[in-house]
Amino acid sequence: MQPSVTGESSKVQEAAKQEETTGGTSQVLALPAKGRSRHIHVKAWVCGIVTILVSITAIALAVWAAASPIGPPKPKPLKCDKASFTPILPSGATLEQVTAVPEGGSFGEGAANIPYPTNPTDLPELCALTVRVVSSPTSFYRFGLFLPAAWQGRFLAVGNGGFAGGINWLDMAPGAHYGMATVSSDLGHNSSVTGLSWALNQPEMRTDWGWRALHGTIVLGKQLSSAYYGKSIAHSYYNGCSTGGRQGLKEIQNFPDSFDGALIGAPAWWTSHLNNDVTRVGIYNLPVSDPKHIPTPLFSVIADEVVRQCDSADGVTDGIVTSPELCTFDFSPLLCGPFSNTSACLTQAQIATAKKVYNDAISTADGSLVYPGLTLSSEDQWYILLGGATDPSPFGVGYERNFLLNDANWDWRKYNDSLIKLAEQTDPGNSTAAKFDIHPYKDRGGKIFMYHGVADGLVPTKGSEYYYNKTIEAFGGKLDDVTDFFRFFLIPGMQHCWSTPVNAPYNIAGAFQAGAMGSGQWSVPGFKDKDHDAVLAMVEWVEHGKPIDQIVASTWRSPLNASSGLSGQRPLCPWPLKATYNGAGEVSAASSWSCPKLSGGGIRLKKPWWSWW
Ligand SMILES: *[C@@H]1O[C@H](CO)[C@@H](O)[C@H](O)[C@H]1NC(C)=O
Ligand SMILES: *[C@@H]1O[C@H](CO)[C@@H](O)[C@H](O)[C@H]1NC(C)=O
Ligand SMILES: *[C@@H]1O[C@H](CO)[C@@H](O)[C@H](O)[C@H]1NC(C)=O
Ligand SMILES: *[C@@H]1O[C@H](CO)[C@@H](O)[C@H](O)[C@H]1NC(C)=O
Ligand SMILES: *[C@@H]1O[C@H](CO)[C@@H](O)[C@H](O)[C@H]1NC(C)=O
Ligand SMILES: *[C@@H]1O[C@H](CO)[C@@H](O)[C@H](O)[C@H]1NC(C)=O
Repeated sequence: MQPSVTGESSKVQEAAKQEETTGGTSQVLALPAKGRSRHIHVKAWVCGIVTILVSITAIALAVWAAASPIGPPKPKPLKCDKASFTPILPSGATLEQVTAVPEGGSFGEGAANIPYPTNPTDLPELCALTVRVVSSPTSFYRFGLFLPAAWQGRFLAVGNGGFAGGINWLDMAPGAHYGMATVSSDLGHNSSVTGLSWALNQPEMRTDWGWRALHGTIVLGKQLSSAYYGKSIAHSYYNGCSTGGRQGLKEIQNFPDSFDGALIGAPAWWTSHLNNDVTRVGIYNLPVSDPKHIPTPLFSVIADEVVRQCDSADGVTDGIVTSPELCTFDFSPLLCGPFSNTSACLTQAQIATAKKVYNDAISTADGSLVYPGLTLSSEDQWYILLGGATDPSPFGVGYERNFLLNDANWDWRKYNDSLIKLAEQTDPGNSTAAKFDIHPYKDRGGKIFMYHGVADGLVPTKGSEYYYNKTIEAFGGKLDDVTDFFRFFLIPGMQHCWSTPVNAPYNIAGAFQAGAMGSGQWSVPGFKDKDHDAVLAMVEWVEHGKPIDQIVASTWRSPLNASSGLSGQRPLCPWPLKATYNGAGEVSAASSWSCPKLSGGGIRLKKPWWSWW
């Protein structure tokens, strides 16, 4: 099945036509109006000569302009080879390779790409470029560009994850299938998602990770794309999750012209706070010898009890915790008694640890918010932040050592909340994306679809809600003033960016989701349309003015295996709305659910609830 993104080339043709006419030489040299002083013969005679001279000059200029390379030339598409691209590269940029990939082919760097070693397969016919760009005297970044043969006039940038240093070829593949020219940057280093040692004493490399590499990639990627096709780009999009979500927000905040529509998944937007919070949360569960330590196998015991108590808070018992905020969780059934199975219960000290994980972290240094806590139902992913045998997660300790303190041997036992102030003040790499007033983006028609899994155990779900609240506040405090360009969707049961431990419908063609299902996948397998694929829904919003009122999420019997068979679908609604069960029909069918209408005054945040922080 083909996505409904065809037939949209009219804008592109229009833009190209405009270029042709305004660039034409015929209208450039209009002759001056004739003189009126005809009764003076001498003047008339002089005028005649002047007119003839002007005419001759005009004709000569016209002929010269037509033949000259200086007038705007009619753009000619380029060939897919190095010789075609080399002359149009700006200084500081070099081509690593240019490869013509046939229909059904594969492309990538394999194992040489540490974080993204899986090459996408079953690609459409395209031209693949790898470009290297010097970004400062001590740094450079690389980016990949897919130029599909069946181009639809659109441009797409995709993001990265964690501290990954590598071109995300796997996430670029869907873009090529949509017919979009697609870029991804390696962000200026070569490392795994959790590798941070590259950043030690490297402020320029941090800046590339923070924002510069993606921005440069977008600017040059657009230039190369329109040169290749010989047409200007009609619309530009973004799709990223986690660090990718942060990158997208940062780009929108600093460069409002980059995109017309952006998918922002589980954004790790508040670097200065989040990465310190990661260390803080890790310390809750360390050292492992302490009675407060919760061993990893007990996380699923807590998870099961959360489902047991919180599943039906939303009115439907389906194994999915849809409304954790409506659940007052009672820890006492988990408490070990004298005859308990110690592999399936928690001590008082362990329960105290769990409570800290759910609670918002408040700075002991100044009482301000560090970060909202993890949400009930996130427990199956607690191993990421709480599973360290000796240290908290590298997302935290690696940040303090290599970004914040420039001390490779810094010991996490020295952690205190004053580091958050320091991080706010220095914000290494300028990566924090906390400029909530994005009027420039809204004013030029930009749209945002932000989403976050409710079962995310890495980047707290409530952090995105907080971001959305802050945006509403920046736009005057009324939800309605934001929903016309920025909508936020919670995905119950989804973990960090993809997958689900409770078989909840989660897949909406967000970043990483297709790649997690296989190297040849793109969009939502079996449902490549605007009702199920948020990228295509975004295209509808941007290009046809149809706001995303709902998107149907999908899951499969084995959630990452499309061949295992579809097992459920359900609409997601714009926050604060939630899909409601119609009272009849299969709970696993999207048609049994509906989204309430988003309108009628909406919510007004009169007195910002966070004002007491
Ligand atoms: C990244 O580093 C690995 C291991 O050091 C190396 O094998 C690989 O070639 C590097 N990749 C790139 C793109 O530089
Ligand atoms: C104790 O709990 C663990 C974890 O739930 C379970 O695997 C085991 O079978 C239980 N043992 C007994 C004796 O019930
Ligand atoms: C917090 O840590 C910083 C940096 O290690 C240190 O300078 C400061 O004295 C500590 N503050 C407290 C209250 O322990
Ligand atoms: C961060 O951005 C500010 C303002 O744009 C600039 O003054 C500062 O030098 C930047 N710092 C880094 C580390 O990039
Ligand atoms: C966001 O604002 C709503 C409405 O005032 C409030 O109920 C909610 O708790 C806030 N959430 C967060 C995480 O800030
Ligand atoms: C996906 O599911 C199909 C059908 O159940 C099965 O044959 C196949 O082995 C599964 N693939 C993977 C990678 O698990």
